[in-house]
Amino acid sequence: MLTTQFFGSIYTNPLMNASGVNCFTTYELDQLADSKAGAFVTKSATLQARKGNPKPRYYDVPLGSINSMGLPNNGFDYYLDYALNYQKQHTTALFLSISGMSTEENITMLHKIVESEFNGITELNLSCPNVPGKPQIGYDFPLTEKILQEVFTFFDKPLGVKLPPYFDFAHFDEMARILNQFPLVYVNSINSVGNGLYIDSNSESVVIKPKNGFGGIGGEYVKPTALANVRAFYTRLKPEIKLIGTGGIRTGQDVFEHLLCGATMVQIGTELHKEGPEIFERIEKELKEIMRQKNYQTIDEFRGKLKDDLNETFEL
Ligand code: SIN
Repeated sequence: MLTTQFFGSIYTNPLMNASGVNCFTTYELDQLADSKAGAFVTKSATLQARKGNPKPRYYDVPLGSINSMGLPNNGFDYYLDYALNYQKQHTTALFLSISGMSTEENITMLHKIVESEFNGITELNLSCPNVPGKPQIGYDFPLTEKILQEVFTFFDKPLGVKLPPYFDFAHFDEMARILNQFPLVYVNSINSVGNGLYIDSNSESVVIKPKNGFGGIGGEYVKPTALANVRAFYTRLKPEIKLIGTGGIRTGQDVFEHLLCGATMVQIGTELHKEGPEIFERIEKELKEIMRQKNYQTIDEFRGKLKDDLNETFEL
């Protein structure tokens, strides 16, 4: 009922973790492999291992989360080795996420992937908001275009990109124009809403240490922005480029909404952090129940079919 075709493979359902959550160590990755997730993705890797930003750097709040992790990770080789071993023994899809500290570092890692036996999908993260002094690449349109031009001179394996949220039609249009030039497998929208500020009025303080408390916002706060980005790209990108919807998923209904806006897969971050990998079983059940009530046998019957042209009325 929930089976999903994605880049030529059939996944049992469209659910994944969002990179960064429950995917730092081989232990956590194994937990995802053993969960009900249809596929999973590694923590965004840099060439060398990184400790990331000072703690506290992740904080759960009632309507979501704020984080400024700063790309802590065990280094590219750690995740590539895991992926190579994993793919020998398993069929559940594993995506490899990379987020270099520079364009050169991204290119180096992508060359290593081409030269390796890795036969899965790579996610190029263009949207980490948390490394002090390094703006999000996805907000620099000419740089994004230049990087993708360079990447596709040699990268001949499946590639998707993870983008930050956009807030203006001019930006949806321009980013879609750039992305449509390339043989991308997917676009993942959205990363956290960068550089929010959550404060505790009792202590009159910020709640995370890095960047004087500024951090990426996830969870319930961001669902309308995530749905807008999924919808905006679904209606602008060529059909070969699929959408992965990320942002604000806590329930089966949230997944249903992402799919209705056009997502093929969905990723869960904040709520996975709160509940752990058992969340996939709950959400799978909830989504099945919604589909049963609406009499849908398959996701393809409603994917992308959001009614977005209301009749005009005279009320406010
Ligand atoms: C982080 O490690 O700071 C989060 C990564 C991301 O948001 O891309």
